[in-house]
Amino acid sequence: MSAPRKIFVTTALPYANGPFHIGHMLEYIQADTWVRFQRMQGAQVNFVGADDAHGAPIMIAAEKAGKTPEQFVADIAAGRKQYLDGFHIRFDNWHSTHSPENTELAQAIYQDLKAAGLIETRTIEQFFDPEKNMFLPDRYIKGECPRCHAKDQYGDNCEVCGAVYAPTDLIEPYSALSGAKPVLKNSEHFFFKLSDERCVQFLQEWTQNGVHVQPEVANKVKEWFGVRDNPDGTKSEGLGDWDISRDAPYFGIEIPDAPGKYFYVWLDAPVGYLASLKNLLDKARIEADVDEDTPNPTAMTFEQYMAQPELEQVHFIGKDIVTFHTLFWPAMLKFSGRKTPDKVCVHGFLTVNNGEKMSKSRGTGLDPLKYLQLGMNPEWLRYYLAAKLNGRNEDIDFNRDDFMARVNSDLIGKFVNIASRAAGFLSKRFGGQLGAAGAAEQALLAALQAQAGTVAEAYEKRDTARAMREVMLLADRVNEYVDANKPWELAKQQGADARLQAVCSTCVEAFRLLALYLKPVLPALAVQAESFLQIEPLQWHDAARLLGAGHVIGDYQHLMQRVDAKQLDALFEPPAEAAAAAPAAAAKKDAKAAKKAAPVADPNAPGGEPLAETIGIDDFAKVDLRIARILACEAVEGSTKLLRLTLDVGEKDEAGQPKTRNVFSGIASAYQPEQLVGKLTVLVGNLAPRKMKFGLSEGMVLAASHADEAAHPGIFVLEPFPGALPGMRVR
Ligand code: 2FM
Ligand code: ZN
Repeated sequence: MSAPRKIFVTTALPYANGPFHIGHMLEYIQADTWVRFQRMQGAQVNFVGADDAHGAPIMIAAEKAGKTPEQFVADIAAGRKQYLDGFHIRFDNWHSTHSPENTELAQAIYQDLKAAGLIETRTIEQFFDPEKNMFLPDRYIKGECPRCHAKDQYGDNCEVCGAVYAPTDLIEPYSALSGAKPVLKNSEHFFFKLSDERCVQFLQEWTQNGVHVQPEVANKVKEWFGVRDNPDGTKSEGLGDWDISRDAPYFGIEIPDAPGKYFYVWLDAPVGYLASLKNLLDKARIEADVDEDTPNPTAMTFEQYMAQPELEQVHFIGKDIVTFHTLFWPAMLKFSGRKTPDKVCVHGFLTVNNGEKMSKSRGTGLDPLKYLQLGMNPEWLRYYLAAKLNGRNEDIDFNRDDFMARVNSDLIGKFVNIASRAAGFLSKRFGGQLGAAGAAEQALLAALQAQAGTVAEAYEKRDTARAMREVMLLADRVNEYVDANKPWELAKQQGADARLQAVCSTCVEAFRLLALYLKPVLPALAVQAESFLQIEPLQWHDAARLLGAGHVIGDYQHLMQRVDAKQLDALFEPPAEAAAAAPAAAAKKDAKAAKKAAPVADPNAPGGEPLAETIGIDDFAKVDLRIARILACEAVEGSTKLLRLTLDVGEKDEAGQPKTRNVFSGIASAYQPEQLVGKLTVLVGNLAPRKMKFGLSEGMVLAASHADEAAHPGIFVLEPFPGALPGMRVR
């Protein structure tokens, strides 16, 4: 057996200035799927991420929010887990570029580059905002791209053509902070001499040798070795030097021996990959209680780990940050005497319903958190994205009808149903035991097994679209077999037991193989399938064998729901309407009044809105809050916003019989009815009953939401600690 592959995998580090959007999820799901596939193949992988914490935009945003930058980025970091866990994205570590490891590594890399003679200082003219009295960070200067002439581009790179330039290269610049026309002032800056012949030669070879980047990316990069526009209108050949310093005030890492100078955020951002890895390995050593003098091969130091010759370093990124990862980053590593990346895997952008492109800074039409809060299955999205991504850097579109069709027809109709059609007969008639297969069955299963290599090759190349296609073609063959052998008819025939058992066993064997092939994309479903099949976690080499006659499976549990069109309606409902459907608002007389009463978001206030006027305890006592159990919950026909709740508040009618209350609550965008049934919550018990179009509402349940619904989506129904009983007063 060959030694396992050792792979260090990263995704681009998100700026710590806002919650994740669907573009982040696309990249993480793509990388997570690849990592899971590699692990199924036996590879040893370290998969890390981190927040990209530095830079002027974050410093300015923190100031606006009335927080220190440290607090600001810590608050953003605290919100990451729900997305990652929610979509089964399993990083081994999540760290921050604002960390001791990153400071140490970035400064060391810089010192090594300096020793290699690749750093120089130059006095440059830089834009200064005369109204704000500060040097303007790149992102706060906007203007026309010098390369493609797109308007309103940022000062460091163009979101339209991907060009990277100095802010002074922009045509007709203006300050995004004050709108003023910026003036030029002198400042000493540090440069990484990318134009040095050593760098140029190395990068030409590294980017063009067909090993490290996709061909379409190599072609794009090739252009950057050609002719370049200079600020003064002249043209230069080849790569320009890279300005890596910024003046105080700046939230970043100090440049050694250069007071008041900081590394530009893009210098220390990719170093954050290494910092997160180092942090992970250091933690593992502490856990393993490694003694410095006794080296332990399973708990290596960061340096030992990086020095392994067979180690592969793989970065997943979007096509907007190719320059940083194919020029600056490999050159920084190479000329500081470090390991260079083995692969930079570039994906395209995601559009939604043929809509606008998702960019870093603009909002999107598909909010991943709302998706989860609606109770939509994360594996639907994982499957859909896998079915679209082909390993090239093309854009893909999330289309709601296509999404429904692929999940319902392919994933459920073709794959999940194979198990559900066969399992019942096996457990009811044969105690769950598999029977012997005939020649036709063996041939079918052998054909499925024979595809393990093809599917694996597609995963390796990140061509999950092909992998999904191959798996669905196999599922088609299995379904043809089922239709030809009709187990439901065999079940009614006398003396057909052995045949019925053989057909159903074949379905279960086939289902196991398909579940194995889909496991990198559908990890949670695979766990359920493994438990139903009563088998150990599936590895790729398990495709070479079958369960065989005599194996006993467990009871079939439903594996996956179908997508409901109503969920997609709710997912794409504009935030303004959703806000009007918030629980507090739903209790108002009508939607118009509700909209008027909706709080105006204030980013500096807790939860986005200032505290209400002070009240006395007597005022509070007027509100009678009671524990209520949700006995039943259902959608309300004719409303996408309301759910009808039947509540037990411990009340009795005149005859002494238990009495329930009917309450309408504007929480349909956040919960599926079945999620709420049986739960306890808190009811405003003495709110005057209100006649609504759909019936009488007898109270209001409590739920939390942020005033800035767009930035912090979600409605969260309150639930008491265990032990509370219906009717108890909340005081
Ligand atoms: O474009 C971005 O969102 C950057 N924060 C990506 C950084 S990737 C790496 F270099 F850290
Ligand atoms: Zn451009």
